[in-house]
Amino acid sequence: MKLENPSVHASTLEHFWMPFTANRAFKAAPRLLAKADGMYYWTPDGRQVLDGTAGLWCVNAGHNRKPIVEAVQRQAATMDYAPPFSMAHPIAFEAATAVAKLAPAGMQRVFFTNSGSESADTAIKMALAYHRARGEPSRRIIIGRERGYHGVNIGGTMAGGIPGNRKAFPALMAGVDHIRSTHDLARNAFSQGQPTHGAEFADELERLVAFHDPSNIAAVIVEPMAGSAGVLIPPQGYLEKLAATCKKHGIVLIFDEVITGFGRLGTPFAAHYFNITPDLLTCAKAINNAAVPMGAVIAKNEIYDTIVNAAPEGQIEFLHGYTYSAHPLACAALLATQQLYVDEQLFARSQAMAPKLAAALHSLKGARHVIDIRNLGLVGGIELEPRAGAVGRRGLEAHVKCFEAGVLVRFTGDILALSPPLIIEEAQIARIVETIRTALQSIE
Ligand SMILES: Cc1ncc(COP(=O)(O)O)c(C=O)c1O
Repeated sequence: MKLENPSVHASTLEHFWMPFTANRAFKAAPRLLAKADGMYYWTPDGRQVLDGTAGLWCVNAGHNRKPIVEAVQRQAATMDYAPPFSMAHPIAFEAATAVAKLAPAGMQRVFFTNSGSESADTAIKMALAYHRARGEPSRRIIIGRERGYHGVNIGGTMAGGIPGNRKAFPALMAGVDHIRSTHDLARNAFSQGQPTHGAEFADELERLVAFHDPSNIAAVIVEPMAGSAGVLIPPQGYLEKLAATCKKHGIVLIFDEVITGFGRLGTPFAAHYFNITPDLLTCAKAINNAAVPMGAVIAKNEIYDTIVNAAPEGQIEFLHGYTYSAHPLACAALLATQQLYVDEQLFARSQAMAPKLAAALHSLKGARHVIDIRNLGLVGGIELEPRAGAVGRRGLEAHVKCFEAGVLVRFTGDILALSPPLIIEEAQIARIVETIRTALQSIE
């Protein structure tokens, strides 16, 4: 099928300053997607591409699902927009209730944002507001982790631990520190699921707490499973230790679940998977199948109560919010998406497909350039040996080869990442893995 799209011509590529993209290289050899359905994309010239990444870790129910499309269409025709400050609309409350139902016990307060980045910054501000409301305003330091990714707004950029980001934007926000990454190829390469070694990396939090003094530390923010920086799986016992240290010192624990939320690990949230309840949980992406931009911060009831009850009656308690918080179209997509997850039991399906993905992935051990394979839930990471003097080139070339062969695979430097829609079939997993194997064989 050829899709006529006259707007897509090389001469029209110059105006769009593309995000997180090597603009010059891309525009010289563009890779465009023009249509999607179920597990597939189509390029403008009609080539089918199997989606191994759920878009960008977000289209968990598969593409263009009818109930979601129709819910958004209906809402657009009913009420396009309503102001969310000191006004509201009914489906905002319904949407919050749907999310609260899925959240861990005691975390039933939901603040809507429009992205994962906004969720990270919102959670950081909530932690600061919480300590102020409890009479400990000196708690201001935010501790993140090296290679952590919490989006691109100022709080998330600073609490995140992506070296390039920190180089480009040094010290936008004072008062952050970082524990080390859990990545340990020497001891953990080719681990299946959670690596055995590395719980002790969490001890570094105790060191930082002693160094700064608990009275100055507001929050620790980590992804329970780091996705964007290359699929880094927490070692066994590691998150438990982090959570215990936070609890001991009165530090707010923020789980960034922008990738792990809504079934990626076979449970509603990674918090359920690891059986650890944070104080704040950020999410976005699959919250509404990415049909309309949306994110959320889920707070412990106690955090909401503390902040809200500290303000005088009638005064705004938390000076924060977005014009598009709880946008009606996003809420409509959310309700339809959450219903679809239930109707098709997609979280259970994710759990059932996870061992099949793991087995297929680990069959790549020994394939050309592969130095590690990692998996957890419906997520896979394949680390390639970087080419001398050209770190990241091999990852990009593998991604391009796979795309040319009709499979979308994500790359972060020299790490290939897989996070397919939860509706994936076994034969599609096999196709993705064989396409990667062939691509790796064909690149230097
Ligand atoms: C863990 C995590 N946090 C935050 C973000 C940022 O989300 P967004 O791109 O929606 O701002 C991402 C994006 O991939 C992410 O993986």
